[in-house]
Amino acid sequence: MLEKNSVILKILEVARWAPSGDNSQPWRFTILSDERFIIHPAPDDQSVPDIYNGDGRAKWFSIGALVENISISASAHGYKAQIIPRKDSPEHFGWSPYIEIILRTDHDIRPDELYPFIEERSVQRGCMKRRLLTSTEKAELERSVPSGVNIEWVEKGSRRWGLLKLISHFTDIRLRLPETYKVHLAVIEFFSRYSRNKMPDQSLGLSRLTLLLTRWVLKSWERTDFMNRFMGGTIIPRIEMDLIPGIFCAGYFVLYSKALSLDFEGDIGRGRALQRFWLQATRLGLQIQPQYPPVIFSHYARNNISFTSATHMIKKLSSFSKKYDDFFGGESSSRDIYFIGRIGEKKNDVSSRSLRLDLESLINQ
Ligand SMILES: Cc1cc2nc3c(=O)[nH]c(=O)nc-3n(C[C@H](O)[C@H](O)[C@H](O)COP(=O)(O)O)c2cc1C
Repeated sequence: MLEKNSVILKILEVARWAPSGDNSQPWRFTILSDERFIIHPAPDDQSVPDIYNGDGRAKWFSIGALVENISISASAHGYKAQIIPRKDSPEHFGWSPYIEIILRTDHDIRPDELYPFIEERSVQRGCMKRRLLTSTEKAELERSVPSGVNIEWVEKGSRRWGLLKLISHFTDIRLRLPETYKVHLAVIEFFSRYSRNKMPDQSLGLSRLTLLLTRWVLKSWERTDFMNRFMGGTIIPRIEMDLIPGIFCAGYFVLYSKALSLDFEGDIGRGRALQRFWLQATRLGLQIQPQYPPVIFSHYARNNISFTSATHMIKKLSSFSKKYDDFFGGESSSRDIYFIGRIGEKKNDVSSRSLRLDLESLINQ
């Protein structure tokens, strides 16, 4: 076992603050020596299939964000982290694929300027300031991602309004599925402001009244389904989660990447770029909220992937996915989108947030 003050532990202690879908923290570590360790995906919870990670990519984007944090934290301790994605047979370490990290002392390395923002970065699901990003801010954000990743800004007029409407239609569909209902029960920590392994319900961006109603409605699927079908149940959450925050921000960003490969290695690269972008935003006093569901649900529709027992929603989804593809210039272009989010200048600090599992519980003994 490593000494308490070993550099690997110091690096991982900070790096574990990476973002992950629903705060799932899908990473575990096996330490091989004082300078060598591996990262492998945490086992999936088989009892609740994660419809938001149906193609497995969100998990690798999250692990990519963690890898970027490791690289940044290593630089702050005078090390260069060598990152080696591996696809050995599972017998080797018990997992495949996985990532091996070797820390190498580097006397020329300078601490990465993004290091101080790793723990400060947090998702903002509420309002931000409405002012548009300046060209300097956009240039700084574009500078933060590697050359294989492109950013589209959706900030004004009918284009911004069009994207807001599309996102809201996807919310309407997803809130009506029994599969997402189960996921929401599993990933939301009710009556809480902080949560180590879930999302506290107070961080969801809902008003006090809607939060009270949501807690009551989510007590059973029958209640949820009834409210959605007959009481206009998705209207209020869509106003609070999509419309108001969509107005109170600078706009949306869209991350594309055609250059990176479509396997886990490419997705680690995408996650690393996302994390640099998010940390740079934090450095500039900006906040972000990802809007991932349109990306994953349009993927299901485009590839005819069966993902729900609510067959009446499938036709609706295909129609909105077609609109999504058209909005981004056709299927061949929208296919390369891997992340969408809102961005804007910070108006308020986040008052409720996800915390992280203790490092000890992430390390295989
Ligand atoms: C791949 C990925 C997808 C995400 N999708 C969403 C999303 O659709 N909506 C949202 O509000 N947050 C989304 N998040 C943010 C996570 O919920 C958030 O990072 C996590 O709960 C930890 O909270 P923190 O970022 O405040 O530390 C996403 C994060 C990642 C890495």
